[in-house]
Amino acid sequence: MVGAQWGDEGKGKIVDVLSDGFSVVARYAGGHNAGHTVTIAGKKFVLQLVPCGILRENCTAVIGNGVVIDPFAFLKEVNTLRGAGVKVDGKLFVSNRAQVILPYHRMIELAAETAPGRVKIGTTSRGIGPAYEDKIARRGLRVADLLDLPLLRKHIENAAHEKNTIVHALFNTEPLDADQMYAEYAAVSKEIAPFVCDTAALLNRAIAKGGAVMFEGAQGTMLDIDHGTYPFVTSSNATSGGAVIGTGVPPTSIGTVIGVTKAYCTRVGEGPFPTESHDEMGEMLRKKGNEYGAVTGRPRRCGWLDLPLLRYSVMINGIAWLVVTKLDVLDGLAEIPVCVAYKINGKKTSEIPAQSTSYDKIECVYKKIPGWKGSTAGVVEYDKLPAKAKQYLAFVEKETGTKIAMISTGPGREETMFMPEFKAMMEKMKSK
Ligand code: GDP
Ligand code: IMO
Ligand code: MG
Repeated sequence: MVGAQWGDEGKGKIVDVLSDGFSVVARYAGGHNAGHTVTIAGKKFVLQLVPCGILRENCTAVIGNGVVIDPFAFLKEVNTLRGAGVKVDGKLFVSNRAQVILPYHRMIELAAETAPGRVKIGTTSRGIGPAYEDKIARRGLRVADLLDLPLLRKHIENAAHEKNTIVHALFNTEPLDADQMYAEYAAVSKEIAPFVCDTAALLNRAIAKGGAVMFEGAQGTMLDIDHGTYPFVTSSNATSGGAVIGTGVPPTSIGTVIGVTKAYCTRVGEGPFPTESHDEMGEMLRKKGNEYGAVTGRPRRCGWLDLPLLRYSVMINGIAWLVVTKLDVLDGLAEIPVCVAYKINGKKTSEIPAQSTSYDKIECVYKKIPGWKGSTAGVVEYDKLPAKAKQYLAFVEKETGTKIAMISTGPGREETMFMPEFKAMMEKMKSK
């Protein structure tokens, strides 16, 4: 399950709805920069690191090797879940190969984001980027190393010395204390230990036994480090390929790819957004859609559905099924603008620019789709949708070359409808 736009498409809600019948839900990328909202019987959960499958009684939740983990954020989330009566112990597993976020990652990110002359990404300030930098530079700390206290001490002493020197030289930042860092991480490592295992082995065993595994994407396609609007992206592979690398499940085991898109579009942070609406319509979408970041509370930038971008997302991920969320937010509009093509220098193009600066040259070609008068909020039967809402969905389906799988008409678990063909496929896919 992947986000087809810039994140916050409603992946959390959809994973929650679909996880019924799945043995395992696994996260494969990102960290606590994600904020996945699930609303069950009016009760709201915002999950950042823990996969939404944890909320299902018979579902195991796995944090795969591709994730970067802040152990303090992880334990805070675990305790919040326990406090809400959610069973966590024996149901939640963390990869021994996942990377650990340390305080200097946040320090470096903060300094870099505020330094004069640097390109500001508008990150979530969680230390995600610098933690992935250390992973790729082969100097990261993995969860298995966190549990190995002599190694942990050595790692922190060396890393703190190096990072303090660099950050002081570059940004004049005050140094972090290595002894204190070690004491805190050594204490937390004991609490993390019961959750840690070889999750690739766990997942492959579950599949071999006939279990169904869902991969819960975080972020979105356009935030993918390789395929997104670089450099205004996150530092991991949010796209479907990331599920393979980030969990240790081979590509041949993946049955289908489901993309989640809003009926419009949003983005948080800096970077290109061709269909962004800067007028009162954007403000209306923000208000009606309650478009404020689940993690940082930042107002989300809002705009219209971007079909060239969705087609790109379909291509990169291999999306067969499209889930459309927040249809209800478009209720009552006389007409709905949808970007059907990009023009660059007056010429239509189907390619997405590689350079973020090239986005400035894009001219969006809009088609105005007739809106609907009635309300779709909370509608759970396709036949009860206003005719024009059905036409809007059919248009999106046709233009993206996908099949609509589900439609979401409100934040609640039950405010969802399944298309029959998708429902039948999911029934077959469920754990045996
Ligand atoms: P995620 O990061 O992709 O899981 O999405 P977020 O949880 O960050 O943001 C989606 C927001 O939209 C959450 O507040 C959800 O409760 C809400 N939401 C999800 N689906 C719908 C829907 O169909 N209608 C409305 N009105 N809200 C929805
Ligand atoms: P979910 O899983 C929306 C954005 C940040 C910033 C950029 C880089 O809830 O959809 P980072 O802290 O990752 O280095 O920030 O990526 N970003 C998200 N935007 N939803 C998310 O996650 C995001 N995770 C990161 O706003 O622009
Ligand atoms: Mg989110």
